Formats: sequence, C-alpha cells, structure tokens
Amino acid sequence: MNRPFMEINCMELNTHAYDDYIGSLFAPQDAALTETIAEMEREGVRMMNVSATEGKLLQVLALTTGARRILEVGTLGGYSGIHLARALPDDGKLITLEIAPHHAEVARRNFERAGVMQKVEIHVGPAAETLRQLASEGGPPFDLVFIDADKSGYVEYLELALPLLREGGLLLGDNTLPDAVLTEEDSGTKRYNAAAAERSELTTVIVPVLRHRGLDGLTVSVKRTRAA
Ligand SMILES: C[S@@+](CC[C@H](N)C(=O)[O-])C[C@H]1O[C@@H](n2cnc3c(N)ncnc32)[C@H](O)[C@@H]1O
Repeated sequence: MNRPFMEINCMELNTHAYDDYIGSLFAPQDAALTETIAEMEREGVRMMNVSATEGKLLQVLALTTGARRILEVGTLGGYSGIHLARALPDDGKLITLEIAPHHAEVARRNFERAGVMQKVEIHVGPAAETLRQLASEGGPPFDLVFIDADKSGYVEYLELALPLLREGGLLLGDNTLPDAVLTEEDSGTKRYNAAAAERSELTTVIVPVLRHRGLDGLTVSVKRTRAA
C-alpha cells in the first residue's frame, strides 16, 4: 500500500513502513525463518530476536568480513544465528552462547530445520564463563562477534571477546541506542558504547536500526592494531 511520502515522513518516524519496505525487498522470510518464529511462539520463548532486516544486516556484515568463524553471545531461539550461519562457508563455524537450556533446545531444533546445525555449536551456560573457557582453549580467532545478551554484561563480554577477535574482525553490540540516549540512568549499553569509544584498537560507529516499533542501534566496531 503506497501512502503519500509527506504523510509518512511528517508523522512521527514511521519505522513500520520503512522497515516493511526494506524487508520486502531484501529480507523476505523463507520457511525456516518463519518456522523459527512459530516455534518460539509455541514454546513460549519471548520475542527478543533481531528483526528480519537487522538479521539481513548481520548476514551482510558477516559476508563482508569473509567470516569463517563467528561468535554470538545470546542465542535465544536461533533467529539471528540462522542469518549468521547462512553467511558461513560449509566448513565455517558459529559458536553461540546461551544461559537458558530451554532457549538452547528450541534454537537447536530451529538450526536443524534451517539445515545449518552442522555449522553451529551451542554452548549452554553463563556467557562470561564460556568466553573464559574459549580463551583458555586457545582456538583460532573469530572473524565476527555479535553481542546480544543481558545488557549488564555487555562491557564484560566486550573485554572477554576482544582478544578472541582477529585484527580486521567486526565486533557488534545490539540494542545500543534508546537505552543509551533516552534513559537518565547509567545503562549497560551506555557503558558498552563508552567502552568501545575508549578502546584505541577499535574504530566504531552506531548504525541506527529500524524496528517495527521505533528505532534501535547496532554498535559496529572494527578491530585494528593498537598502533593504528
Ligand atoms: C536478546 S536475546 C538474543 C536474541 C538472538 N540473538 C536473536 O536475535 O535471535 C538474549 C538471550 O541472551 C540470553 N542470556 C541472558 N543472559 C545471559 C548470560 N549471562 N549468558 C548467556 N546468555 C544469556 C537470554 O537467555 C536470551 O536468550
């Protein structure tokens, strides 16, 4: 349905219409993604997943880095994870961290249905513990890290994940705009943005992200050498 440009643009920012436009062109939902949302609904999992268009943005960013190894903090039902896993080559790996066993179970079914489970490892437990464990194992570095779990942990996740990220890799933090700007109090995401701004090895910007009900932000950082 086409509505006059001025009507849309002069109302409060009509993110619904803009997001629908981008989604219909670039992020149509296939059966696996639609079923992922349906499975979350059936299982009573709260809809805290990224939007379809943000999922597509994650996929584009992962492809841009030529990602072969991706680390996600906050699996939920696997919706963002499916987008990320689809950007990986067949021998690529998505390691995704989730504290709630029920979410991990639902995500596993969704990854299987989407045909990406062979590229995915779900680690159940508090993310900070798993990140320390991954560091002690000394595996190959990650090309992209996506942080999307409890906001109070964001700064700790940044600190623990950064050594695991290769130079030139991307560090992404989700939901980093409204809380940081519109709340008076200190918030986890406000502290995360400040921490990213302070790190000399990170070049960072917040990309505003449209949602059906308003605007959010994705903090995008590229890891460079400290001297750069
Ligand atoms: C916003 S949801 C993730 C959404 C998901 N990335 C997506 O877009 O489909 C946050 C998830 O982080 C998990 N979580 C919360 N605290 C955590 C922690 N300390 N360690 C690991 N996962 C945690 C929650 O159980 C929830 O499933």
